[in-house]
Amino acid sequence: TWPEAGNIGGGGYMVIKLVDGRTAAIDYREVAPLAATRDMYLDANGKLTDKSIVGHLASGVPGAVAGMAQALERYGTMSLREVMQPAITLARDGFVVDSGLASSIRGSERVQQFEGGAMFFPNGQPLTTGARLVQPDLARTLQAIADQGPAGFYRGWVADSLVAEIKRGGGIITNDDLARYKPRERRPIRSTYRGFTLLAMPPSSSGGVTMTQSLNILETWPTTAPHGSTQWYHTVASAYQRAFVDRNSKLGDPDFISVPLEQLTSKTYAQSLRRTVRDERATPTRVVDSLMQAPIREPMNTTHYSVVDRFGNAVATTTTLNGSWGSGVWVRGAGFFMNNEMDDFAAQPGMPNMFGLVQGEQNAIQPGKRMLSAMSPTIVLDSAQQVLLVVGAAGGPTIITGTSQIVLNVLDHRMNLADAMRAPRLHHQALPDSLTIEIGGVAPAVQDSLRAMGWALRPLRSLVNVNAIMRVKGGWEGVPEPRRSGGAVGY
Ligand code: GLY
Repeated sequence: TWPEAGNIGGGGYMVIKLVDGRTAAIDYREVAPLAATRDMYLDANGKLTDKSIVGHLASGVPGAVAGMAQALERYGTMSLREVMQPAITLARDGFVVDSGLASSIRGSERVQQFEGGAMFFPNGQPLTTGARLVQPDLARTLQAIADQGPAGFYRGWVADSLVAEIKRGGGIITNDDLARYKPRERRPIRSTYRGFTLLAMPPSSSGGVTMTQSLNILETWPTTAPHGSTQWYHTVASAYQRAFVDRNSKLGDPDFISVPLEQLTSKTYAQSLRRTVRDERATPTRVVDSLMQAPIREPMNTTHYSVVDRFGNAVATTTTLNGSWGSGVWVRGAGFFMNNEMDDFAAQPGMPNMFGLVQGEQNAIQPGKRMLSAMSPTIVLDSAQQVLLVVGAAGGPTIITGTSQIVLNVLDHRMNLADAMRAPRLHHQALPDSLTIEIGGVAPAVQDSLRAMGWALRPLRSLVNVNAIMRVKGGWEGVPEPRRSGGAVGY
């Protein structure tokens, strides 16, 4: 029911904590096709094109179906048929388009360029609020997966349709790429923050490392400044800025590069970074004026959901097509959109991607490699190692800062979950060297002080789409993102 975010044509990550003590991290990120090359998005003059964002070359090999099926097989209790039936019914019988989806369709020029245009713009007009969206091709695809497991997607007619669609537009994903795709089960990053334990996603996502590093830096201050104060913005932004410098230059797919995980997540290293923070002054990131202005060029549509069952088993999972409507390419006959995840690589190391992230060689394109992600599904345990928070977000690099601020708001500022979700947010990703704040969220006097300290403020209407669950007396409380549509539900 959220076609612009997919997600069977995309991929993601999942962190699991079971009541029997087991933990897991499933990496079902897309991989670069085998025919991918380092400079595949540069034109004849060496200039970066937009082909990593729009069209048939922009997709990595999807991982969502294999990852979800593996999680269910290893840790679930229900059959694939059972868990997929509600989605199959919604695709087959349709659902009513709400105002959020209608507005997203209206703004999706990209969709009209490709085969999905006929479904989302019948007679050339966008579907409007109240229309029924019926997706018979998607229903058949989902049924094939329910009947055959991942083979129903990675082999047979669905795979053939996907490859034919990609080939038609000059893309490079082959049947061999699909048949070879494998999710990876990894060990969650386990870190501590002021007596609490965090279970977070390791590379190929940067989420867990960068959150851990930011929180480790913040923990070096014995007390936390009041939420929303100048000092709070200064310390939190300084921590993010340093963690993102490392993220952008040192992280990538651990199957291809060596990631200094131990160093980046160590408390000693955090102390050395803390010493670079000046109390009264912002420190410029490597300053590249032109990059400071790099805009985030498009809405991001990722999906995060947090789940806890009646026994206390917890799952945080984030999935994405990357940009809204992914690459825009819709697989005819099979009824789903393809991701544009290849843009999460450093398509030209040193140049910003669509999120303005400036990344290095560690994240350059190689065949079969996973592109670096910011997705941060996270589970926080209390001092008795019981689940306290299940949290994660959508929003490209702001996922890391948004998710960690819910953790900080609850652990440092003792907010209840509703307040923690509503509280104004900030973001810093090293480059562009600006401190993003929410319009209306920061007192004018605090803004003046921050500017005087040397921070380049960048106001945005809203930052990041988080969904979270928190343990409360007598049960659980779920809070969806108050800035966007979405919901929390108990069965
Ligand atoms: N596609 C956004 C991310 O993985 O960070």
